[in-house]
Amino acid sequence: MPQPTDQAADTAATNAAAAGPTAAAPGEPAASGRHELTATGLSLGYDGNRIVDALDLAIEPGAVTVIVGANASGKSTLLRGLARLLPPQAGAVTLDGRDITALPSRQVATIVGLLPQQPIAPEGIGVADLVGRGRYPHQGWFRHWSSTDDAIVAAAMAATDTLKLAPRRMEELSGGQRQRVWIAMALAQKPDLLLLDEPTTFLDVTHQVEVLDLLHELNHQQGTTVVMVLHDLNLAARYADRLVVMRQGRILAEGTPAEVLTEAVVLEAFGLRARIIADPVCGAPLVVPIGRFHRPA
Ligand SMILES: Nc1ncnc2c1ncn2[C@@H]1O[C@H](COP(=O)(O)OP(=O)(O)OP(=O)(O)O)[C@@H](O)[C@H]1O
Ligand SMILES: [Mg+2]
Repeated sequence: MPQPTDQAADTAATNAAAAGPTAAAPGEPAASGRHELTATGLSLGYDGNRIVDALDLAIEPGAVTVIVGANASGKSTLLRGLARLLPPQAGAVTLDGRDITALPSRQVATIVGLLPQQPIAPEGIGVADLVGRGRYPHQGWFRHWSSTDDAIVAAAMAATDTLKLAPRRMEELSGGQRQRVWIAMALAQKPDLLLLDEPTTFLDVTHQVEVLDLLHELNHQQGTTVVMVLHDLNLAARYADRLVVMRQGRILAEGTPAEVLTEAVVLEAFGLRARIIADPVCGAPLVVPIGRFHRPA
């Protein structure tokens, strides 16, 4: 079987693996959803520039955490740091209490998975092949492709409505179709801690809700800890157990959506005047922007 290349390899390797519900912690067995990912005094950046600044964040095991914030506030940078793709300039990320940079890649890859904001598929790759690469981290000297891998890949594709795309090449697909294939790959990896950077980008509203329902189900039924960046504050409020609002590389507010999504926080984080009302479907905070041309009633 060919080895994954480029960013797909990064994605597959990072996301890697794991026996999902029974993934073992570094050095010891752990129950599903009980892995602890923590950032302490974490600073991250590029070429000496500091983007994420002395940030403390403990990801709640078994919960859905949604990170929101304005463009360039450091959300993707933070996610890359949490997934060990970017080394800290200062501070540390720990997985189950151990410095993540000191753990073997494969061990991290069996627990933590990251779907980046803009994953790059190897040229000419087919859809089914890409989703299958999600299973790479499970392969090894003594563990080859099996019917279980086939079943997991098929289930991931069914869940993301991509089965009918299986014979096609990635480059032939629409943005939304591609995004769903990447999500299928992330699901096929079955990491215990799944990090997703804007998984609903490019998706029409129906598929946005389907993907978020799917992640909710994964969290509730398999105990997968989900951390995702979303731009839609209303979907974020609806699906998050914990909401983290970032501003200029720091955490501006953190808590339940009801605690965090206030008019003052929305103004400070986004420079947006808005009214907050109750979502008529589920009671979560609903952010209604005001803008320049409409007067609040
Ligand atoms: N590879 C890189 N090299 C240099 N600077 C980078 C790199 N990636 C991001 N940056 C810079 O880091 C800052 C934060 O970027 P980041 O991608 O983390 O923001 P974000 O909150 O995810 O934004 P968005 O909502 O637009 O995705 C930006 O100023 C960006 O230009
Ligand atoms: Mg980003």
